[in-house]
Amino acid sequence: MTRIVHISDLHFGKPAAHERLEALKGLVPGLRPTAVAVSGDLTQRCANREFEQARSYLKELERSAPCIVVPGNHDIRWLGAVARNLGFAGLFRRKAHEFKYSRYRRYIREELSPALEIPGAVIAGLNTAHGISRGSLTRRLKDLGVIGHVRRSDVERARRLFEQAPPGAARVVMIHHNPIKGPVSGRHGLANTEWALEVLASIGTELILCGHDHQEAIHAIERTPGLVISTAGTISNRVRPGRSSSFNLVDIGQESLRIVTYTWNRDMKNFLPSTERLFPRPRKPRRYNLNSMKDDGRDLGHVEQTDPRR
Ligand SMILES: [Fe+2]
Ligand SMILES: [Fe+2]
Repeated sequence: MTRIVHISDLHFGKPAAHERLEALKGLVPGLRPTAVAVSGDLTQRCANREFEQARSYLKELERSAPCIVVPGNHDIRWLGAVARNLGFAGLFRRKAHEFKYSRYRRYIREELSPALEIPGAVIAGLNTAHGISRGSLTRRLKDLGVIGHVRRSDVERARRLFEQAPPGAARVVMIHHNPIKGPVSGRHGLANTEWALEVLASIGTELILCGHDHQEAIHAIERTPGLVISTAGTISNRVRPGRSSSFNLVDIGQESLRIVTYTWNRDMKNFLPSTERLFPRPRKPRRYNLNSMKDDGRDLGHVEQTDPRR
């Protein structure tokens, strides 16, 4: 069995919940994970000090298992990058791009869209945090720099990775932004969510790991059977009203995929299993349909979904 501890939105800085971080750190070794997947927003303000704390925390987790990480919208210096771009009329576009991810790369990982192969699964990390860029433009001002998008070049890289993976290995994609609307927020994090879900399903993705919404959720999508989405809640205290911090534990067996949400319990001062969902795994990887790789820019704003809590 392959076991992935899926955590997200640690937000080192003011919102960091040290008691919960310590409890999680104590819990992980006993869970004996094959990998730890961290789906972004390691920091709150993209500050050096916050990244230092995040880096040392990741090092502690790596004692138990290899960690795969992608950046979140809080981990990039997008505003400074935009200012640089405007200031030099785009002449230093590349410099602005480097500036945008400079702290994340210095402290966390050089690779923004990493890959991790473990027994029983292959995980493709796709960077969806691009700040203000053509693919993430939105009319909703409060989403400016917050909303993300999946890039075609990253999907192509994931497709190649999946093609080379052993037949029985689960094809897993990790992104920061949630493609399904959060039950409380009513928002999804991706500008091109419809296209992203279809194209990721078409390359044989069985499981998407994501965060950003700060509310845990486990979804199976009716229109793309066999695709499951694990949205990890936040470890920080930036929780949705009436909700608790949480993370998801993913167990991948030969026949089934099981996701258990561990929720923070104030009295016990620990994370306890709360929700469990079991899904059959597809018998064989889907056929690739490269025609669907074309991004038509559609954002229908909603996706058919089944919510376990309704
Ligand atoms: Fe976040
Ligand atoms: Fe986020």
